[in-house]
Amino acid sequence: MNAVAQPIRLFGTAYGRKPATHDATLTEVGPGTPCGEFMRRYWHPVGLSERVTMERPERVRILGEDLILFRDRKGRPGLLYPRCAHRGTDLFFGRIEDEGIRCCYHGWLFSVDGQCLDQPCEKNGGEHRGKIRQPWYAVQERYGIVWAYMGPPEKMPLLPRWDILEDVAPGMKLHVTHSSLYAGGDDDVELVPCNWLQEWENVMDPFHIPVLHTSFSGVQFVPEMGVMPDVQWEYTDTGVRYSAYRKLEDGREVDRVTAAMFPYVRMVPNVQLRHGAASGVGWVVPVDDTTLRLCFAMKIPESENALPRSPNLRPWSKMTPAERQRFPGDWEAQVGQGPITLHGEEHLATSDKGVGMLRRSLLQQIKAVQQGRDPAGVIFDPAQELVRVEAGNFFRDVAK
Ligand code: FES
Ligand SMILES: [Fe+2]
Repeated sequence: MNAVAQPIRLFGTAYGRKPATHDATLTEVGPGTPCGEFMRRYWHPVGLSERVTMERPERVRILGEDLILFRDRKGRPGLLYPRCAHRGTDLFFGRIEDEGIRCCYHGWLFSVDGQCLDQPCEKNGGEHRGKIRQPWYAVQERYGIVWAYMGPPEKMPLLPRWDILEDVAPGMKLHVTHSSLYAGGDDDVELVPCNWLQEWENVMDPFHIPVLHTSFSGVQFVPEMGVMPDVQWEYTDTGVRYSAYRKLEDGREVDRVTAAMFPYVRMVPNVQLRHGAASGVGWVVPVDDTTLRLCFAMKIPESENALPRSPNLRPWSKMTPAERQRFPGDWEAQVGQGPITLHGEEHLATSDKGVGMLRRSLLQQIKAVQQGRDPAGVIFDPAQELVRVEAGNFFRDVAK
């Protein structure tokens, strides 16, 4: 018997759909990958200075590499490959000393830059110890953050300064954190289980604000954010920026300027739509291909101890699964795209223009590195060391 012709209502079923794919070039960050090599041309926040103690080393995973971060008893931070150069024991179990970290197994001692300083089981502390080098990365501290350079030594740029993090006024302080609050999590959660690009490109997606944050889940920020914005995106020398214009019900007009800068910097103004420049800057640090960790540095009053948050947001880790379904936020939206979103299944629309621009310019930078050029935003000239953070909510007539 012949099959009956398919009724039209079965068009577009999930059966037989094409295998799903992600764009590996844009998302994967391990050593030797195109994006990983691009990333390795910048400085990365690998830890908070206050947590890097002289007591015990801590594990750091970044760009798909497992490393050991510690501070020797002279106060110098060090970032080493974890497997001891002798026979591979994990330096996480090492002991910190004045000059470095000593492996627990046979006591080889390594300085913060990987030099082997002592081999106690060998004659005279190891007559050939000078030939041994534990793989290491260069680190610097600034703004209470430990930064690492993990790329080719001859390409190491200057560690940037950020204008809004300089000159902390009396009564204010710099607050640095790995809180996932601005990824829809909260201060008790640091690792976000999705690819870094999902989080970073969300910075260029102003249209989710009136939906996800202002109507779908109630008002997560402030009601004024519910006005559908008129958005202008533009390429900058170091990434992509948009200005979202809103005319509010009371007649006030505001331009909300947000920028994404390579390799994964986010410059986002306050979500309460208060007038003024952003007070901090954030980094969407790829831990590996399917995990990210935010790092934020922000000026806040000395009396405070956390990132400013919307009073409307409940701590994410306290919410039940049912509450997360009723009141989804950025976590549900971006982690909900999967460990690495399936670009092959997407249907980008006009409101995704910023996302498209960001991906295109990211690809250009990745290719630039592949072709032997320096990517945008790496700084070699000390005169350009200070980076301007241009984000903010700018009311056109502040007096209104
Ligand atoms: S394995 Fe580290 S000293 Fe032997
Ligand atoms: Fe958001």
